[in-house]
Amino acid sequence: MPAVNKPRLDQRPEWAALRGLREERFRDAHLRDLFAADPGRAERYGVRVGDLFVDYSKHLVDDGVLAALRELAAATDVAGLRDAMFRGEKINVTEDRAVLHTALRAPRDAVVEVDGRNVVPEVHAVLDKMASFADQVRSGEWKGHTGKRIRNVVNIGIGGSDLGPAMAYEVLRTFATRDLTFRFVSNVDGADLYEAVRDLDAAETLFIVASKTFTTIETVTNATSARDWLLGELKADQDAVARHFVALSTNAEKVAEFGIDTSNMFEFWDWVGGRYSYDSAIGLSLMIAIGPRHFREMLDGFHLVDEHFRSAPPERNAPMLMGLLGVWYGAFFDAQSHAVLPYSHYLSRFTAYLQQLDMESNGKSVDREGNPVGWQTGPVVWGTPGTNGQHAYYQLIHQGTKLIPADFVGFARPVDELPPGPAAQHDLLMANFFAQTQALAFGKTPDEVRAEGVAEELVPHKTFRGNHPTTTILADALTPSVLGQLVALYEHKVFVQGAVWDIDSFDQWGVELGKVLAKRLEPVLTQGTGADGLDASTASLIARYRELRGR
Ligand code: F6P
Repeated sequence: MPAVNKPRLDQRPEWAALRGLREERFRDAHLRDLFAADPGRAERYGVRVGDLFVDYSKHLVDDGVLAALRELAAATDVAGLRDAMFRGEKINVTEDRAVLHTALRAPRDAVVEVDGRNVVPEVHAVLDKMASFADQVRSGEWKGHTGKRIRNVVNIGIGGSDLGPAMAYEVLRTFATRDLTFRFVSNVDGADLYEAVRDLDAAETLFIVASKTFTTIETVTNATSARDWLLGELKADQDAVARHFVALSTNAEKVAEFGIDTSNMFEFWDWVGGRYSYDSAIGLSLMIAIGPRHFREMLDGFHLVDEHFRSAPPERNAPMLMGLLGVWYGAFFDAQSHAVLPYSHYLSRFTAYLQQLDMESNGKSVDREGNPVGWQTGPVVWGTPGTNGQHAYYQLIHQGTKLIPADFVGFARPVDELPPGPAAQHDLLMANFFAQTQALAFGKTPDEVRAEGVAEELVPHKTFRGNHPTTTILADALTPSVLGQLVALYEHKVFVQGAVWDIDSFDQWGVELGKVLAKRLEPVLTQGTGADGLDASTASLIARYRELRGR
């Protein structure tokens, strides 16, 4: 990135302007007053992208703040970086890589170049290979070593090689074949693999080893244990691996070294970040579950939002708006976290997926040139599906001391239409969805509490200050396309924030130290060797551990 005497973010006049707005107009502003003063607010502060309607009227902003945020985006050249990303420039500066997950969902006739080569034909060649394999497994044509058809698919991967397919499989369960069992193993704790395979017939089980690098210790360890289990159960030799193991990776050499035939490898590329990869070969388990047609619908959903992000003007650009709102709260309201609260049981793993997407991307404290930042970067992202959260931690959001901006994601129609099942309960679910953002924004004043005859000493306890900002994302139904749209919306939101904060959203050096130390500590745990120079706390904890293990 050119470093031509770029001013620091917090030295920019646009930053100062926003600080001024916070201190003057938004010191005491309340959403109740903002709505009362501006009857057109709900109408104006909503944007449609594809099937998603994004309402941001319940935010602590007005036209002036929104304009100032857009000016900040212009000054930090968010659009320029976005265009560089779409053009395949190496915007991942610390790894010198292009960032082109958008090419994964480009239509067949699109042209996206990396180093002067159009990558779209390769993307579609892999998608075609995946589709052919998925069809063979789904139809029973693909047989295991003993000639039995595959009935169980176990994805072994971690981080981006697990969270995406695992999340999307849950989301799209009703689109998935119920003839096959799908499991996702990630944890190096052997319990994860044990529980995943203990009731499976190895002869009917396919393992998908998903790892961009194929060096990740958790995945290689689990894959090795899975291979030992399979060969032991089948009383077979290495030949059996070919019918029961496939790999998803960028590293053919390591895949071959592991013993998986590279003709059973589905490739992707170094310009796909792990946390941006489930629409690549990493989605193979999902494609087997939902079939190639639904997978394509999901990719088209992603693509639709890519095009919106690329071309919609800033004031109608949903990822831009959502990203800038997060910048506003982090910088000027000291918000430390961001809740994502889906009102769909099928989205139960959605926030976990977003945690990696957002926190691994924007959990940085130096800018692109390596200088310490002087502003808040990525928030702690958390949340679980409503209404469960309402009976657990919403208390803190409503009446605690922290400002927690939240996204509420809900759907007009339940996925499953079978009466008297989910359809009958859906209005109740959605009544809660709307009620929560209403309560969070407008609260309940002491006078309103008193008017209900509440004893004076309880009035403070029953008062809701309100003024808690929320975004409401409403769609018709949770289809494969809508899932793609939602994920792309968040991917680009994260992009916008990283661009404003001037950080590299596409590396993840922060995960390295723990990996190196774990490798170094393993012999200390197992053999008691190599403890020299260990800090006193870790040394004494490991001594205690070894004692408990009888070593
Ligand atoms: O350690 C973090 C990380 O590199 C993630 O970014 C990535 O998604 C995950 O590990 C898994 O990596 P791989 O797909 O190479 O096994």
